[in-house]
Amino acid sequence: MPDNRGNETPEEKALREALENLKEQGLTSEDFDPEAAANQPAEDAFAEFRESQNDLSHIKRIIGIVSGKGGVGKTLVTSMLAAEMQRRGFEAGIMDADVTGPSIPKSFGIVNKAMGDGTYIFPQESKTGIKIMSMNMLLENDSDPVVWRGPVIAGAVKQFYTDVAWGDVDYLFVDMPPGTGDVPLTVFQSLPVDGIIVVTSPQELVSMIVEKAVRMAEMMSVPVLGIVENMSYFECPDCGKRHAVFGDSHIGELAEKYNISAVSRIPLDMKISRLSDSGMIEAYPGTCVKEVADRIAAIK
Ligand SMILES: Nc1ncnc2c1ncn2[C@@H]1O[C@H](COP(=O)(O)OP(=O)(O)OP(=O)(O)O)[C@@H](O)[C@H]1O
Ligand SMILES: [Mg+2]
Ligand SMILES: [Zn+2]
Repeated sequence: MPDNRGNETPEEKALREALENLKEQGLTSEDFDPEAAANQPAEDAFAEFRESQNDLSHIKRIIGIVSGKGGVGKTLVTSMLAAEMQRRGFEAGIMDADVTGPSIPKSFGIVNKAMGDGTYIFPQESKTGIKIMSMNMLLENDSDPVVWRGPVIAGAVKQFYTDVAWGDVDYLFVDMPPGTGDVPLTVFQSLPVDGIIVVTSPQELVSMIVEKAVRMAEMMSVPVLGIVENMSYFECPDCGKRHAVFGDSHIGELAEKYNISAVSRIPLDMKISRLSDSGMIEAYPGTCVKEVADRIAAIK
């Protein structure tokens, strides 16, 4: 590695050290150079070629989970879709590309760090066998804030694809950071993404978000496979009816307008937050994401 570490920010130093620690366990990540990545102008991302899978990865489909802003339930939808595909007998995997706020391991109760063997990084497995890779598995303390610059993070996410031994995965779900920064661009440029799922909540300017996602997907030649409206309704314990706490949903009309065939609605449910807080999200039934899961299973 060239010795121009004088310009390194504390955050970049932390990432370099995390990767060097992995190397000490017998890991190599020869082609990752945080300094070079940091000095690369963002436009270069467009000129990059697709990365290829390594010899220990056989990933059939890659699905990106996107949202307009944070906190609408992207991680929840990623977790529920992976759990549902796993229940249906497929091999599911999750790449936590939301590296600045990695919360996938917590939802599945994964505390172990990633291990390496000199060539590959090995993902952790959830209780039901979902393969998971997250920045949390590299950080010494899960609570360490990740405030690295975009290109550095994007390089790390690319390594989640090139250096992780995924094994057989039918559906790899990528929990993307919100917006259209370096990481989503890198994922779309370097990974063969088969489709995206847009997550919204009723409080949002949903039409704008869906429109934006459709346009981004078009630009990347990737289809929008479905929309998930989270916190869509509340199932009333008193009368048993579904109350639209945030007003009536127009997600169906919107999906029709943009020719998106699958729409799922997730209720506002205390069980969801309780299960994800305790690392048990796989225990939540997948019936509310059925339509979108069906659409994913139908990818040709
Ligand atoms: N339908 C729901 N019912 C109850 N709690 C929910 C529901 N959806 C999400 N939550 C809770 O809200 C919080 C935010 O959800 P989640 O982490 O999935 O959002 P996110 O879009 O991934 O957020 P971030 O942008 O921070 O990554 C979590 O604590 C989650 O358990
Ligand atoms: Mg999240
Ligand atoms: Zn009621």
